[in-house]
Amino acid sequence: MKYKLIMVFILITLPFNIFGDSKKALFLYDMFDDESELYINMIRQSFDLINLPYDEVALEVGDVPDFSLYDRVFIYGKVMAFNLKSPIRDWLKTRPSLKGPDIYLLLTANRWFIDKYTRQISELTKENGGIVVDAVSSATKDLSDEEKRGLVSSLFSGFQ
Ligand SMILES: Cc1cc2nc3c(=O)[nH]c(=O)nc-3n(C[C@H](O)[C@H](O)[C@H](O)COP(=O)(O)O)c2cc1C
Repeated sequence: MKYKLIMVFILITLPFNIFGDSKKALFLYDMFDDESELYINMIRQSFDLINLPYDEVALEVGDVPDFSLYDRVFIYGKVMAFNLKSPIRDWLKTRPSLKGPDIYLLLTANRWFIDKYTRQISELTKENGGIVVDAVSSATKDLSDEEKRGLVSSLFSGFQ
């Protein structure tokens, strides 16, 4: 009898488990290159660790899918060329609607322009209707790989 009740409970709740939390996360970054590789791989590992399905797009080459398909969006961007180059910023300037998902930002620079870049990305995100739930921004010049990993972990610790 006890097992029958458990089976009935599982059968009743199964559709909710399958369909209730069906949205995925979206991971956006500028491009995959030597400087980004560490961060992109750490972010991929963080998704896998918490079994969070996700799509990813390198903005330099790919188009961003419909935001309504996602409940969380992670954006990793870095300062390039004295802050003159940024596929993420270029995309934000096209005024995409960012309404809907919670947005998480990880922004790095080796040393220069990180504050200005962070301000620009944060403001453009908000102007496009995005809600930034958490943002980590850091100059990385003096950081070890372990400390860089800590930047990613602190971003992911917010919603587990
Ligand atoms: C083409 C290119 C240009 C860059 N220009 C700058 C820059 O103007 N200022 C800066 O602080 N970092 C610059 N960087 C460094 C990246 O921001 C840095 O590599 C990235 O944030 C990752 O940090 P890490 O390599 O220290 O881990 C540049 C990197 C590349 C690939």
